[in-house]
Amino acid sequence: MSSAAPKNEISGSAVLATGTGGLPKLAITTPWSTAEIYRHGGQVTRFQLNGQPPLLWLSEKSLFTSGKAIRGGVPVCFPWFGPRPGKPAHGYARITEWDLATTATLADGRVNVQLRLPKCAGGAEAFGGDVELNVTVGETLTLELRASNSTSAPLQFENCLHSYFTVGDIAQISVTGLQGGNYWDKVGPATERSETAAAIRFTSEVDRVYTNTTGPVEIHDPVLRRIIQVEKSGSASTVVWNPWVEKSQAMADFGATEYRQMVCVESGNVAPNDLTLAPGQTAVLQVVLGSRAV
Ligand code: BG6
Repeated sequence: MSSAAPKNEISGSAVLATGTGGLPKLAITTPWSTAEIYRHGGQVTRFQLNGQPPLLWLSEKSLFTSGKAIRGGVPVCFPWFGPRPGKPAHGYARITEWDLATTATLADGRVNVQLRLPKCAGGAEAFGGDVELNVTVGETLTLELRASNSTSAPLQFENCLHSYFTVGDIAQISVTGLQGGNYWDKVGPATERSETAAAIRFTSEVDRVYTNTTGPVEIHDPVLRRIIQVEKSGSASTVVWNPWVEKSQAMADFGATEYRQMVCVESGNVAPNDLTLAPGQTAVLQVVLGSRAV
């Protein structure tokens, strides 16, 4: 770090700035890519390889305001996933301002950023243990969510890195890597089904929680001529979501036709795959997001 740079800035590689809605962000530049991280939600909102369209999708209508989740990038769902009556959907982490702990340039040129979820966040629902998000930006984007039980009792929770990806046209993409898995189909009354398709295609709303799925998933995009790769570890669940017309139009933070340019492939441990940590244990959820040209 240059001696003149403010704490957490690395001259030319990690710059603190005022983002949308006046929220603080960190702008990252590496030899391969650029990225942005908001302290609000501990959220990566942008990752773009040089010369390519953004890998992560961010709604033009996203709110950037206290108490509301940012619509796009990689929201951190923690310590629960989905709705809970009277409580914030997908947990409180994505609407909490995280602490920016450290930034560093690695020997290979990648930039690493560590954020911490303040222990006081979450009120009565506070997780109790220590939670850290490690973001490494380079030719790929790596996110590592570490939850440690520093209490004296077991802690039960769900986690999910809810990644939104940019696609050329939702009607032309396919998602592979989930064949043979069972999923909860959340469109209509929740129904358990098994995935028979080698390639999942989108012709209407899709909202599925695949359980016991630990392998890599790929998004094949013939319009943007790339395959997005989602590799993960410490994750037994995969969520695939596109709200399609009606649901997206009912959301204030979703543009009228934006559903065509996005798909969520989310990695975590949810529903029957939720986690319990004994005192002293740490759970590490890691995703490596990248793409290759086709
Ligand atoms: C997905 C869920 O993970 O997130 C969907 O499976 C949900 O059911 C979607 O609609 C978006 O949630 P939210 O709270 O960000 O609108």
